[in-house]
Amino acid sequence: MPADFLWGAATAAYQVEGAVADDGRSPSIWDTFSHTPGRVHGGDTGDVATDHYRLFRSDVALMRQLGLGAYRFSVAWARIVPAPGGRVEPRGVAFYDRLVDELLAQGVEPALTLYHWDLPQYLQDAGGWTHRDTASRFAEYAGVVGRALGDRVRIWTTLNEPWCSAFLGYGSGVHAPGVTDPAASLTAHHHLMLAHGEAVAALRAELPSEGRISIALNLAAVRAASADPADTDAVRRVDGLANRIFLDPLLRGGYPPDVLGDTASVTDWSFVRDGDLAAISRPIDEMGLNYYTPSVVAGGAEPGDPRDDGHGVSDHSPWPACDDIRFLHAPGPRTAMGWPIDPTGLYDIIVRVRDEAPELPLMVTENGAAYPDTVGADGRIADPERQAYIAAHLGAVARAVADGARVRGYFVWSLLDNFEWAYGYAKRFGIVRVDFATRDRTLKDSAHWYASVIAAHRGRHGNGESQGA
Ligand code: FCB
Repeated sequence: MPADFLWGAATAAYQVEGAVADDGRSPSIWDTFSHTPGRVHGGDTGDVATDHYRLFRSDVALMRQLGLGAYRFSVAWARIVPAPGGRVEPRGVAFYDRLVDELLAQGVEPALTLYHWDLPQYLQDAGGWTHRDTASRFAEYAGVVGRALGDRVRIWTTLNEPWCSAFLGYGSGVHAPGVTDPAASLTAHHHLMLAHGEAVAALRAELPSEGRISIALNLAAVRAASADPADTDAVRRVDGLANRIFLDPLLRGGYPPDVLGDTASVTDWSFVRDGDLAAISRPIDEMGLNYYTPSVVAGGAEPGDPRDDGHGVSDHSPWPACDDIRFLHAPGPRTAMGWPIDPTGLYDIIVRVRDEAPELPLMVTENGAAYPDTVGADGRIADPERQAYIAAHLGAVARAVADGARVRGYFVWSLLDNFEWAYGYAKRFGIVRVDFATRDRTLKDSAHWYASVIAAHRGRHGNGESQGA
């Protein structure tokens, strides 16, 4: 990896913070969703989560102990602007102020995401992402956070995985707000893209020139089940809805014509207004890529065929106008999410963006694996599968870097075991174990190993200032 490569770990506000009613925070769509019976495994909620809101100082101390160069976290919009009308809640801002100062004091670079799926509920009550106005509200909020923290935070991400917000939130309904309407999912998609573009402008107006603005996409490595033309056409369509529907407007200022055609039975796209694509394609400084597993697709599905695309079980597909497409699993071992392990998919998406935007620096903003960890009699958590997963994917990143991709950093998902959305606390992604009864933290073996990888990198590049234990 390049000498200045950023070694990080990531979390997101609703998944770790808890303290959902503290300091003037109002409910988000994930509070509502998790408190709705039947929505989240085991009835779990983020009410307390890992209690990071209170324990952030000791969590930052763990980051320092690991030698992390950067910490990717998200800001809870409902802490900053808790009610309609735009009033800024100073106690909410103060939390992120303290967090950022603590990170900087411990030598960990803050990487801030403005939106990791926790829309304020009052905005959902007005239509959420299907309501165009939500994009303007997001830009105002981005400006507020930019003004408050832009003097200290250099790495800014507008949206995390807008595919999930739009298509799991409004299509399959397995994520908040739990809507199952393909037309709504495409409307939400466009308004999320517009929100990103408007937020880029709002941030640009507030940030000093060192500020770097990005968006984190979960681009899909889509593969055909066979060389059959029906399968390769399924790849074209899923690639359109997972990848080109983001990359084309962001990088080229237009939606792909074949996607507009494929979805014509669902919507006429009249929600796209003049000027929107110019806003969406405002230049960004880097792109974040989140990757877990590839997608294998086939054409010719019959009604009633099993459908498991790895994004949770629902009677409704997150893929608009794709009822005839089957989602299959790649062969080989899987993680506890049931996701096949295939690092070549990460290589493929990095190289694809390298080819489409050769000058644009990239960051792997999420990558990691869930396993049912057990605590040994000696208290140790041996998680060799997670370590192997991360090592193999770092290998894919290194290969892409050797092949000319400008990858500036890698963030493990996740620093901490946390609230894994519809799976609640049943899936553990952390390199640090959280005991959800006591909120105690224990470094898993993968965390010790990751620390040694970081230390070896620093040693090789002669900036091995000793950090922590
Ligand atoms: C990603 C999300 C992140 C986490 C991982 C496992 O899609 O961005 O919050 O849930 O998956």
